[in-house]
Amino acid sequence: MLCAALIVAAGRGERFGADLPKQYADLAGAPVLRRAVRAFLGHPGIGQVRVVIDPAHDGLYRGAVGDLGLPPPVAGGATRQESTWRGLEALAADPPAAVLIHDAARPLASPALIGRVLEALDRHDAALPVLPVVDSLKLVGDGMLTGERPRDGLARAQTPQGFRFELILEAHRRHAGAAMTDDTALVAAMGVPVRAVAGEERNLKITTPDDMEEARRRLSPERRWRTAAGFDVHRLVPGRRLVLGGIDIPHELGLDGHSDADVVLHALTDALLGCIAAGDIGTHFPPSDPQWAGATSDRFLAHARDLVAGAGGTVEHVDVTILCERPKIGPHRDAMRARIAAILGLDVERVSVKATTTERLGFTGRGEGIAAEAVALLESIE
Ligand code: CTP
Ligand code: MG
Repeated sequence: MLCAALIVAAGRGERFGADLPKQYADLAGAPVLRRAVRAFLGHPGIGQVRVVIDPAHDGLYRGAVGDLGLPPPVAGGATRQESTWRGLEALAADPPAAVLIHDAARPLASPALIGRVLEALDRHDAALPVLPVVDSLKLVGDGMLTGERPRDGLARAQTPQGFRFELILEAHRRHAGAAMTDDTALVAAMGVPVRAVAGEERNLKITTPDDMEEARRRLSPERRWRTAAGFDVHRLVPGRRLVLGGIDIPHELGLDGHSDADVVLHALTDALLGCIAAGDIGTHFPPSDPQWAGATSDRFLAHARDLVAGAGGTVEHVDVTILCERPKIGPHRDAMRARIAAILGLDVERVSVKATTTERLGFTGRGEGIAAEAVALLESIE
């Protein structure tokens, strides 16, 4: 079915409260309107995209999407309903079979969502995406609770809302000036059944600056994550304890070093410090400083944990690989995981400890030392 997308962008964004109307504001490197348009332009089920704007924003419009080869924008009206109607009348010059009507203020509609609405139009004359209501509903007046409303059967409406073109055009002509908040309300008022499909939380409408922040977070999950590696080696010598992952392990040799020489905790400490670009373990605990002589390495890791927390990060997951020929790590693995989890304040499922020999190759293979490498993942450094 030949389907057009009509994107209404003629609002003033009063609740957003910025100088620039919200649909032209930057969202992680592209204007909100551009993201909304591109979601439809690239969709195989959409034949054309038409945008409705306030002519006073023409320069902003051209700056945002001028290079995308769109047909000229349509001048909107004083209400969303009027803007939509004007857009539909413009499309009527060469009517598509169906139209998806979408808020420019929803820049994150996914191809799957657009696909679900289009698919519903194969069998139904109108369709909209909805989300369940999860919060309890209350009536509030003058700052006081005045009543309750059951939420059963209620849903939150999103866009794009899809229609057989002639149907929605007729609905708008019939209900001019009715000031309904969305388009399915108009066809429902004509008794037309409207199919509800699953909406998506990421398809949020930007109304306030908080929504923009949320959109930014949803758009760029990679910005919310930091990861880094750590690596350490110590020499195996007689007459020293062997401490790995904070656990004393019976062995004829121990690791040599200024502190307890726990390569596992040292590699982890460096991984955490790497996530916040805060140098390495030597920067914070110089071996030349006598106060760290014989120190247990849980202090180093706890310090890195606190620096990470201070930088706004939360440790999500850590993973360590120990490279050694002997002793066997397997029997001590869970104790190490529990100890590391306790130091970092993590669930033990978020702590992974692995080990490998190096097939008797190299210094680890010859039993001259033990190495460890670690990876850490942090969330939300902002
Ligand atoms: N819209 C429109 N014409 C109008 C009013 C709104 O095309 N006269 C569009 C908006 O640009 C937006 C969508 O309808 O993409 C949803 O409206 P809303 O989120 O309310 O945006 P604004 O009206 O711009 O914001 P506000 O109500 O805070 O002023
Ligand atoms: Mg509005």
